[in-house]
Amino acid sequence: MSKQRIIAIDGPAASGKSTVAREVAKRMNCIYVDSGAFYRGVTWKMIQEGTNTKNSVLVLPVLLKSKWNFKICNGAVVFTIDGVEPGEALRGKEVREAVSDVAAMPAVRTYVVNRLRKLKKLGSLAMEGRDIGSVVFPKTPYKFYLDASPEERAKRRHAELVAKGETEKAQEVLESLQRRDQKDSSRATAPLKIADGAYVIDTSGHGVEEVTRILMDRIVDLEKPRTDKMINPVWYRMTCAVFGACLKVLNQYKVLGITNVPKTGGVIIASNHASYIDPPAVGASSRKMRMTHFMARDTLFRNLLMGAFLRRVGVIPLDRERGDVKAMKTAIQLLRDGASVALFPEGTRSPDGTLQPAKPGIGFLVAKGNAPVVPVYVHGSYEAWSKHSGGLRCKPVTVIFGQLITQEEIRGLGSGREAYSLIGELIMKRIAELKENFEKGLIHE
Ligand code: CDP
Repeated sequence: MSKQRIIAIDGPAASGKSTVAREVAKRMNCIYVDSGAFYRGVTWKMIQEGTNTKNSVLVLPVLLKSKWNFKICNGAVVFTIDGVEPGEALRGKEVREAVSDVAAMPAVRTYVVNRLRKLKKLGSLAMEGRDIGSVVFPKTPYKFYLDASPEERAKRRHAELVAKGETEKAQEVLESLQRRDQKDSSRATAPLKIADGAYVIDTSGHGVEEVTRILMDRIVDLEKPRTDKMINPVWYRMTCAVFGACLKVLNQYKVLGITNVPKTGGVIIASNHASYIDPPAVGASSRKMRMTHFMARDTLFRNLLMGAFLRRVGVIPLDRERGDVKAMKTAIQLLRDGASVALFPEGTRSPDGTLQPAKPGIGFLVAKGNAPVVPVYVHGSYEAWSKHSGGLRCKPVTVIFGQLITQEEIRGLGSGREAYSLIGELIMKRIAELKENFEKGLIHE
């Protein structure tokens, strides 16, 4: 039997999820699941029963009473509710206008999420929705988020409706879609968001074939032997253990907030830099999370022995003087392959222990790597070994991992050069907040 894959495809209305998910399901031998149809099914049933779709108390009896049966038809999961297959009625105007209110009800979400999870026993799935990668199957490595501008999405939906003989005006469709987007993104339970580690595809201006290809190439990439074969795991673990033990003895080394680092998917670990201690201190903590590629200045590789060692533990050499395209490309590819990359946005050690602005390259890397960022504050490393202290002192060092800066937040900063500097600023702001909160005693074990 071939390997079971759960392909999670999320995104706002009319972002192209359904068509692409169907196509991917067909080509990759998966069962197609339209999770939105389940929420539409509940909504349809409420309307059938004459139940007020805005009243979350009234939904429970409808859920408990109705009997759902599932079958696979033409490679897709279809269902009947109390013996009736709602079919096209699910996509009618009445259901469309009410579904986001119904889908926001926690009881409905629990009910549908449980049903969706059970479908796993059918085999490989290509499931589309709003929360598949974030809630329904958060552990799957195959997470995608399709997006497009509201205007483009409304244009597509309008064309679909016209083809079905409906008479809604383009402006009405846009407004209805925006209302639904707003409700879906702002609800308290499982709002529409980019799941951690999801691969974002902007479908504006790209046809179904192109998007399907991008998505399938990504799956193939994820299944290739990982680029972080660049890391020799034995050397890596040994190095972490030695650094960790030395830091514990000499610097009362502590690590806080390690669970903020996602266990899978591309991620950037961005730390402040005030001392030679920072790379080993952040690196040693990766013993408790996942192997991570560090970016370090290429001059460290000049010494042959040192160079060989750094290569074994997966360090990416970076020419700090010139924009190092090769290093950037390597890091971006690693992130896209789902690896973890650590770097120091300030570029070089702070001369006085204060936080410095981020170098411009960091924003570029974050934007192109399409990965979330974990901000990290290393406390005490300047006091333990500053640029001026001439050697190691036995001062305490604590590494604090902060909450993830999500891809959504990053995308919210826009695109292009302007966004790159905003991304750098945001990361340094989060590191500064960690510093402040730690120093106030608000972050502790
Ligand atoms: O086809 P379209 O993207 O317009 O909508 P759909 O996928 O059929 O989903 C209809 C509605 O169900 C959405 O607007 C959401 O309110 C809700 N939904 C959800 O909350 N979670 C999901 N996983 C899927 C849909």
